[in-house]
Amino acid sequence: MSNSLITVLFIADIVGEPGTRITVDVLDNIKSQHGVNFCIANGENASGGKGLNVKTVELLLDAGIHVITSGNHIWEKEYFLKKIDKYRSVLRPANYPQENVGRGSTIFTLKNKCKVAVLNLQGRIFMNPIDCPFKIAVQEIRKLRKITKCIIVDFHAEATAEKLALANYLDGKISAIIGTHTHVQTADERILPQKTAYITDVGMTGPVDSVIGVKKNVAIKRFIYQTPVKYAVADGDAQFNGVIISIDAETGFAREIKRVSLTKSEY
Ligand SMILES: [Fe+2]
Ligand SMILES: [Fe+2]
Repeated sequence: MSNSLITVLFIADIVGEPGTRITVDVLDNIKSQHGVNFCIANGENASGGKGLNVKTVELLLDAGIHVITSGNHIWEKEYFLKKIDKYRSVLRPANYPQENVGRGSTIFTLKNKCKVAVLNLQGRIFMNPIDCPFKIAVQEIRKLRKITKCIIVDFHAEATAEKLALANYLDGKISAIIGTHTHVQTADERILPQKTAYITDVGMTGPVDSVIGVKKNVAIKRFIYQTPVKYAVADGDAQFNGVIISIDAETGFAREIKRVSLTKSEY
């Protein structure tokens, strides 16, 4: 392996205690098995299924995650939002109105001195109508590329077409664009023509026997009765979902993207 290769592990939306536990349990093994030198996780559901708290953030950072991205659920723990600006490595989507707390991008310097930028964006289809992710992406990437060509985008979005459109719009300007939010891993990982790695959705790191991490009876009742039913994270064994991306540090181009999907019996 060349020195100029960066191997990134991107971990899918971590849901509740089951998701956090499997992440902490498998991380060292996966990192050494694949020679990972940079690790990103989407943590928007990590604390009780909704948002983040200080304890979970510290646990994930101590476990070896370098940057925690998020999405629509980041706004649900008021106490943590008062602290979010202290954490350079915890992101919220950059295209929420600027007046909000938190940051949408960060740059991390690896042990080999390579710099990697992470940018968090959120879609607008079947989601809150926040600022345009395409326009904000261009503005942010212009700033980040002055420092590094290695840029990884977490695009937290519901609609497949919106994810593919943004990916193709940014192809060649970033190293990878990883879809999050739907909690179901898609099998369409590939390198786009201008060398940006892509997957529509990286999946979920959380309880398997559930409806995208939620207790089955809660989710079913919500659909049948169309009334609020108290949210609860499902129990039981968790799955670990992610992708591993190899990036040429000199050019910022992706060389490979591969999916990782593990259940308890496999580690
Ligand atoms: Fe999520
Ligand atoms: Fe989400």
